[in-house]
Amino acid sequence: MITRSIVAPRALGRVPRLASTSQRNYATVTETPKRTHGGLKDQDRIFTNLYADHGADLKSAQKFGDWHRTKDILLKGHDWIISEIKTSGLRGRGGAGFPSGMKWSFMNFKDWDKDTKPRYLVVNADEGEPGTCKDREIMRKDPHKLVEGCLVAGRAMNCTAAYIYIRGEFYQEATVLERAIQEAYKAGLIGKNACGSGYDFDVYLHRGMGAYVCGEETSLIESLEGKPGKPRLKPPFPAAVGLFGCPTTVANVETVAVAPTICRRGSSWFNAFGRERNSGTKLFCISGHVNNPCTVEEEMSIPLRELIDKHCGGVIGGWDNLKAVIPGGSSTPILPAHLCGDQLMDFDALKDSQSGLGTAAVIVMDKSTDVVRAIARLAKFYHHESCGQCTPCREGSKWTDQIMQRFLVGQGRPREIDMLYEITKMVEGRSICALGEAFAWPLQGLIRHFRPELEQRMADYADKVGGQPLAGGWAADSAKKGLLVSPGQ
Ligand SMILES: Cc1cc2nc3c(=O)[nH]c(=O)nc-3n(C[C@H](O)[C@H](O)[C@H](O)COP(=O)(O)O)c2cc1C
Ligand code: SF4
Repeated sequence: MITRSIVAPRALGRVPRLASTSQRNYATVTETPKRTHGGLKDQDRIFTNLYADHGADLKSAQKFGDWHRTKDILLKGHDWIISEIKTSGLRGRGGAGFPSGMKWSFMNFKDWDKDTKPRYLVVNADEGEPGTCKDREIMRKDPHKLVEGCLVAGRAMNCTAAYIYIRGEFYQEATVLERAIQEAYKAGLIGKNACGSGYDFDVYLHRGMGAYVCGEETSLIESLEGKPGKPRLKPPFPAAVGLFGCPTTVANVETVAVAPTICRRGSSWFNAFGRERNSGTKLFCISGHVNNPCTVEEEMSIPLRELIDKHCGGVIGGWDNLKAVIPGGSSTPILPAHLCGDQLMDFDALKDSQSGLGTAAVIVMDKSTDVVRAIARLAKFYHHESCGQCTPCREGSKWTDQIMQRFLVGQGRPREIDMLYEITKMVEGRSICALGEAFAWPLQGLIRHFRPELEQRMADYADKVGGQPLAGGWAADSAKKGLLVSPGQ
């Protein structure tokens, strides 16, 4: 029997830090205790080997709690596991933050058991979002967490097998993970009669070829089937028609890897971290202008400043030297320094700031950063990675890349900034997959918060060439020279 007391749910005993207790008088109401987040204790970390303190082999993993009474979890059945994941409040760690328990429950539709087709869990280990470096840490240091996670998540969805689709460039990670899979097979933990539970479950590793769009779930499925990685139109959703036409759920590495610990320590333990609707612990990867870039597990809803100061040794040159932060991987809109001071790091708080938690890949930029150049580079990346199926994304990513290359040198006029914004707005919600939004949002963030920088470049350029260019970048005297400029200029 698995009970929540297998590992003491220490988090339940934590005393919330209270806001200063002011004396109550007739004019005041009782203050609701304010809880601050962060300061995750070692005993509450799920990923205990992020820094390779011990081996990635089965024996070491077992010593640190992996594969502990997994059979009991499996025997509890799919309803129990899904209910635990639901009450834990776990939201997908792949970027969109969809509630995992609900997503997994779509696999157990009415009469699912009468369907004789195989059923698949596909683990998204593509990790292509620039700035993100968390899934690779799990795979090369804590691979058994993922293999056990496949079994537990697979059991929850009554899957026949898991396919782990790993980014092609992750050669070392693939080697370590394959070794862990083989160890688990040899020990009878997966395969026929997994862990002696009577449940058969296979795990396969599949290496991709390194295209960013293959991280999108339906594109990933196409690629796994041996076809070019181009996203599918939905519906049908993968839970109905997925890999090889069979019911499938695609889930991120981190999402899958935390499932066994949630089942062992209890959903209420996990739920006790973070703000409501944003629960749990989370891997944050912080890069850029900090003294000590790192990937760290912290409590959800930790303040951004605490995350940077405590784990990364602060911004290079101090907090006052901060210019901006991209909080959740390259597709989330940039936040200027004045919004970063009080920013909480969770799905809802970042949405309220018109950005997003995404993959929790925090890219820190100090005052030496040319933000226009940084976002122009991202525009180039998204242009390169668009699969070209839908016109708004194919053409929009190309136009915006070309426009940003001009804006980089100031070759444009201020009203074109609004035109650029309009293009990004025309793409949102009009493409097959979210890559459309992924290229639109960083540009919107730049315009929202750094418009004066764009305008200044344009003014400097006009000074240099002796006149503001026409829209489209044409020199002011183009019409006079008989060149082909757009009508009305
Ligand atoms: C262009 C694009 C790239 C993506 N890349 C990844 C990726 O590398 N890894 C990932 O887990 N999810 C990626 N996603 C999100 C997946 O489509 C999917 O939502 C996710 O794997 C679901 O897992 P979760 O429910 O655990 O979050 C990407 C989405 C898009 C639109
Ligand atoms: S949005 Fe872009 S990447 Fe996605 S399917 Fe359309 S063209 Fe391809």
